[in-house]
Amino acid sequence: MEVIIRPTTESAVKLTATLIADALRAKPNICLGLATGRTMEAVYAELARMHRQEYLDFSLARSFNLDEYIGLGPDNKNSYRYYMNYHLFNNINIDKRNTCLPNGLTDDIEHEGERYEQAIREAGGIDIQLLGIGRDGHIGFNEPLSSLASRTRAKALTPETFAQNSPLFDRPEDMPKRAFTMGVGTILDARNVLMLVTGREKAEILAAAVEGPVTSMISATALQLHPRAVVVADEEAGALLKGREYYDWIFQNEPKWAAYRNI
Ligand code: GLP
Repeated sequence: MEVIIRPTTESAVKLTATLIADALRAKPNICLGLATGRTMEAVYAELARMHRQEYLDFSLARSFNLDEYIGLGPDNKNSYRYYMNYHLFNNINIDKRNTCLPNGLTDDIEHEGERYEQAIREAGGIDIQLLGIGRDGHIGFNEPLSSLASRTRAKALTPETFAQNSPLFDRPEDMPKRAFTMGVGTILDARNVLMLVTGREKAEILAAAVEGPVTSMISATALQLHPRAVVVADEEAGALLKGREYYDWIFQNEPKWAAYRNI
C-alpha cells in the first residue's frame, strides 16, 4: 500500500482525479470501478472539468459502481444511479449503456449479486477501483464483520451508516436499511485500487485502516492485502498516521510520483 498525503482537500481530490485520467488516457477502454458519497463529488466535478476543458475522452470506458440501495430506482434522487448520472455520467461522454450499478429494484435479490459479478467478469474485470471510506471503516457497504472474501450481495446496513447517510434523504426514515454491495473479495480483484479520504472526522478510521491489523471489523484494512493499493488523503484525514514522514519520503523519492508532486 502507498499513502500520499496532500496539504489540502483540493489537491488530494485533484491528484485522485489525475490518476484516474492518466489511467484512462493509457487505456481508453478502461473498466472503472466507481464509488459514491460526499467525498467523491469533487472528484467527479474535476473529471467533468477535464472532459470539458482537456478533452478527456470517456467514449470507450465502462464502469461498475460499488453499491446501490435496495428498493431505490434511477428516478429516486437518493439512489446511487441518480447520483452517478447527476455528478458524472451526464457531464462526460461515457455511453450510459456501459455504466453498471446493481439493480436496486430487482425482484430477484438473491441472485442480483451473482448477476453483477458475472457482468464484471464479462467486461474483463475492473482496472482501477475508486473507493471512499465510511466512518465505521466500510468500503462499498461492507459493514463490520463482512468476510474479507465476500462477493457482491445484499447487506444490512449498520445504525452508524444509517446515521451517517440518512441526513441526505428528505425524510431520513426513508433511507433503505439494506443495500447491494460488491464484496471485499470483489474489490480486491480489481487490478488497482485508489482510496480517497478527506476531513478530520476520518482521521481515526484511516489510521486504523492503514496502520492497524487486518480485521473484518474494518473492511478497509483488507486493502493491505492488495498489491497495488494507493491511498490519497488530505492533511486533516492523515493527521493520525504514525508513518507520515516515511510516506512523504516515498512520494518525494519514487520516480513514478515525480509528475504528480506539484498537483
Ligand atoms: C457510502 C458509500 C461508500 C462511501 C461512504 C463514505 O456509505 N457506500 O462507498 O465510501 O458513503 O461517504 P462520504 O464520502 O459521504 O463520507
